[in-house]
Amino acid sequence: MNQSDVLATIAQREFVNKSLDLLTNKEKESGKKLTASVITFGCQMNARDSEKLAGILVASGFELLEDTEDADFVLYNTCTVRDNANQKLYGHLGEALSRKKKNPEMLVGICGCLPQEPSALEKIKKSYSYVDLIFGTHNLYAFPEYLSRLLSGERHICEIVDHADNIVEDLPVIRKYPFKSGVNIMFGCNNFCTYCIVPHVRGRERSRESTDILEEIRKLAGTGVKEVMLLGQNVNSYGNGIDGEISFPELLKRVCDIDGIERVRFMTSHPKDLSEELIQTIKSDEKICRHLHLPLQSGSTKVLKEMNRRYTKEQYLDLALHIKDEIPDIALTTDIMVGFPGETAADVDDTIDVIKQVEYDNAFTFIYSKRMGTPAASREDQVPEAEVKENFDRVLKCVQDSAKKQSLRWQGLVLPALVEETNTSLDGYVTGRLSNNMIVHFPGTPGLIGTIVPVRLDECRGFYYMGSRV
Ligand code: 5AD
Ligand code: SF4
Repeated sequence: MNQSDVLATIAQREFVNKSLDLLTNKEKESGKKLTASVITFGCQMNARDSEKLAGILVASGFELLEDTEDADFVLYNTCTVRDNANQKLYGHLGEALSRKKKNPEMLVGICGCLPQEPSALEKIKKSYSYVDLIFGTHNLYAFPEYLSRLLSGERHICEIVDHADNIVEDLPVIRKYPFKSGVNIMFGCNNFCTYCIVPHVRGRERSRESTDILEEIRKLAGTGVKEVMLLGQNVNSYGNGIDGEISFPELLKRVCDIDGIERVRFMTSHPKDLSEELIQTIKSDEKICRHLHLPLQSGSTKVLKEMNRRYTKEQYLDLALHIKDEIPDIALTTDIMVGFPGETAADVDDTIDVIKQVEYDNAFTFIYSKRMGTPAASREDQVPEAEVKENFDRVLKCVQDSAKKQSLRWQGLVLPALVEETNTSLDGYVTGRLSNNMIVHFPGTPGLIGTIVPVRLDECRGFYYMGSRV
């Protein structure tokens, strides 16, 4: 952390104390405990941010309610990567209004990616004027300050900035799981894929210093964390822009060396930056999970070029097949988009060809969504909906066939599973996650949660296994 980051952290800690005083007084006046809830949309980055927001709420004296919108303060941590994420939020906001009518003291906040997009921000201000607090991705660290202003009676707070001044470390966090945690290693994205709003709402790429990251993970390990997921929009360019900083593979090695850390995951890798050093690092250290998410987006070299992905179909195939050759027990997953402007049925045939050759273990398939301000949105050759739907169904079928076939390859093996929770639908069962990210349900007691145990994979049921402890 530089000096400005240290000062910003100290200032925010003081705001937490101020909120705590204000909240204690309010509770005395009203005679009841005040509750808060964070509702999360979107990716792993947002999930991690929500843990920080929840930590600040609890440190400020709120009782945290999980996943409910009945709290005295509801904070929506939003996503805007596709339009359906926006629509989902608007639906929730409509419902929030009816609750607010019944309870005028209720506070509603919005943060995250969506308000960073100017037209969405305008819409919120105009159509949902009862929202009490709006802030974006770059000033999440200042939530303690905004909260203390809310608790002092201020309303209609709207603080959006277009770049980050500080990387504030060490604010309180409430983790969803005691035994695993996400760890941000970088923020933002510099790739400017022509369909993507992320660089516009999350800003330019900024890596955290490796000493800060490793210190955070040492502390996490000290509290019982066994698995960490290193988070960034493009982890393979970790360290760019910091003089003398270590590479991503080196960072992985150092994380693996931390006592108590038994599993390391990371997300997301851009294929253009994935190095041989990374492949060899994964191969040589069993602590690095056998799962790689390698977004393809399209299998057509023409479409990839127009998306500004900076690889061809052949380069992607060479890379993916090489990784599978080097690390045969790795599970490869991907993101695929259908309906990018100008995409033809022949382009989609190329995508299907890549799926068939790579044989993904799983894939997220998305219909292209026009995002205001991105180059692709202003193209005249948007693909008609019916054509997109037909192509999407073809891709989905191929992805499902591949995932089904790949799931079967673990049948009968005994693999270590990190037990994450008790199974809510099967009495006496727990649910564990394998290194390759597959889920296995097996008989077990809640005492196993947070431990890594060997499990035989008895029966494949599509995307998960039924197993037994050995
Ligand atoms: N439309 C549809 N999908 C998108 N993604 C990113 N931007 C868009 C968009 N405009 C998908 C990409 C990315 C994933 C996180 O979301 O596949 O990898
Ligand atoms: Fe959504 Fe992307 Fe923001 Fe994540 S980074 S919350 S996926 S818009």
